[in-house]
Amino acid sequence: MTTTDCSACLEISGLNTYFFTGDGIIKAVRDLDLRVPAATTVALVGESGCGKSITALSVLRLVPEPGRVVAGEIMFNGEDLLKLPQLEMRRIRGNRIAMIFQDPMTALNPVLTIGAQIDEVLALHRALTGEQARQRGIAILEQVGIPRPAQRYDDYPHQLSGGMRQRVVIAMALACDPAVLIADEPTTALDVTIQAQIMALLAQQQRQRRMATILISHDLGVVAQNAAIVAIMYNGMIVEIAPVATIFAAAQHPYTRQLLDCIPKPGQRRQRLLQRSNDKHQTEQFSAPFAARGEHIPPMQQVADGHCVRRWS
Ligand SMILES: Nc1ncnc2c1ncn2[C@@H]1O[C@H](COP(=O)(O)OP(=O)(O)OP(=O)(O)O)[C@@H](O)[C@H]1O
Ligand SMILES: [Mg+2]
Repeated sequence: MTTTDCSACLEISGLNTYFFTGDGIIKAVRDLDLRVPAATTVALVGESGCGKSITALSVLRLVPEPGRVVAGEIMFNGEDLLKLPQLEMRRIRGNRIAMIFQDPMTALNPVLTIGAQIDEVLALHRALTGEQARQRGIAILEQVGIPRPAQRYDDYPHQLSGGMRQRVVIAMALACDPAVLIADEPTTALDVTIQAQIMALLAQQQRQRRMATILISHDLGVVAQNAAIVAIMYNGMIVEIAPVATIFAAAQHPYTRQLLDCIPKPGQRRQRLLQRSNDKHQTEQFSAPFAARGEHIPPMQQVADGHCVRRWS
C-alpha cells in the first residue's frame, strides 16, 4: 500500500500546532500532511522534541496548554476531528481512535486493579458492566498475551513486570476495537528482549484488526520491520516520507541519512544522533537543509511513487 491509497482512514492536512509561551511562539508542528490508510502502519520518526507526540495529541485534541492547533484538517470517517463538538470527540477518543501513551507507567492508575481500569473503558464506550465487562476484560488480556488472565485481572499494576504492564496498556487501547491506533514510543521504557516481544504483539494485533496505525519512534531500526510507510520528522515538519524499503534503500534527505547512520550495525559502535540545538558541527554540515529552522518551508516534492521530500536548496 502506498501513501496515495484512497481508503485513507485518517488523513491529516496542513496541521500546525503552536505553543504560545511567555518567551514567544513555539511551532511544534508545521504544515504536516499525513495519510494513514486502514490496515497500514505509518511510522513517525525523528529526534526528541521534533513534534511526534504533539502531532499525536493534536489528532486526539489533547494538546496541553499553552498549545493549540492553529490550522489544519484531520479527517476521520468523513468528518474533520478538529471541528467536532467536545462530546463527540470524547466518544471517538479511546474508542474509534486509541492511543498508547509514551510513558506506560503513568498510563496506569496505581490504586486501581487492571481489571477495574479496563472496565472503566468498557463502561464508558460500550456500556458494559459487571460480569460482561469482566469476561470481555479477561478475553482482551488473553489476546495481548497475559498468562492466567482471570487471576491477573484483579492484580494492581505494581504486581506486574514492565513488559506485562505495557501489555495491559495495549489491552486498554484495544478494548473497544479501535479503527485507528496511535502508539507513542510503545517500547522505550522496556529492555531489548521485551521490546521485541511488545513490537511483535503490536504488529500481530495491527494485522489481525486491520487498524490504521501511527507508530511513533526516535529509532528507525525499531520501525524497520513494523511499518509500511515511514515519515521522517524534523523540527515540527515531515521532511521525507516513503515506503519503508525506499527509506532504507534510497533516502534523499540528509537528516534521514543521519538517522540511518544511527542504526547499530554488526561490528560497529553505535553512533549517537547529534543534538540539533547545541551541536555546531551538525548545523554547519547540514546548513542548507537544516535551514528548516527558518520561516520558509518548501513544499513536499514527489521524487517517486509514494516518496516525497522537502528540499531547501
Ligand atoms: N507544554 C509545552 N510547552 C511548550 N512547548 C512545548 C510543550 N510541549 C511540547 N512543546 C514543544 O513542542 C515540541 C515538540 O514536542 P513533542 O513532545 O511532540 O516532541 P517529541 O518528538 O514527541 O519528542 P520525544 O521523542 O522526546 O518524545 C518540543 O520541542 C517543545 O518545543
Ligand atoms: Mg514524544
